[in-house]
Amino acid sequence: MIADDMRMKDHPILGEISKGRPVEFTFDGKTLTGYEDEPIAVALKAAGLMVHRYTSKHRKPRGIFCAIGRCTDCVMIVDGRPNVRTCVTPLREGMDVRTQYGVEAK
Ligand code: FES
Repeated sequence: MIADDMRMKDHPILGEISKGRPVEFTFDGKTLTGYEDEPIAVALKAAGLMVHRYTSKHRKPRGIFCAIGRCTDCVMIVDGRPNVRTCVTPLREGMDVRTQYGVEAK
């Protein structure tokens, strides 16, 4: 079942919001379901998950802030690649999404 109670269904300017097909992905090893092509951050938020990463120096939690790919607060490790801005990265079937701790280089 997809948690979509929080998703916008109709926008005053954009109109009705279309969704992709339901797809499964994992978040820190737990299987979740979202809609294909929606931002990863949206699927996580709909599932009630707010923390995407922890800062490197003080280990403070961070999540969605700008939601337009500018601030890096939403970066996570996606399919083994660190520093992925999940607010602007489309969800795909089988993605492996993980919480990021600090700044990871690859
Ligand atoms: S929330 Fe700012 S880059 Fe994603």
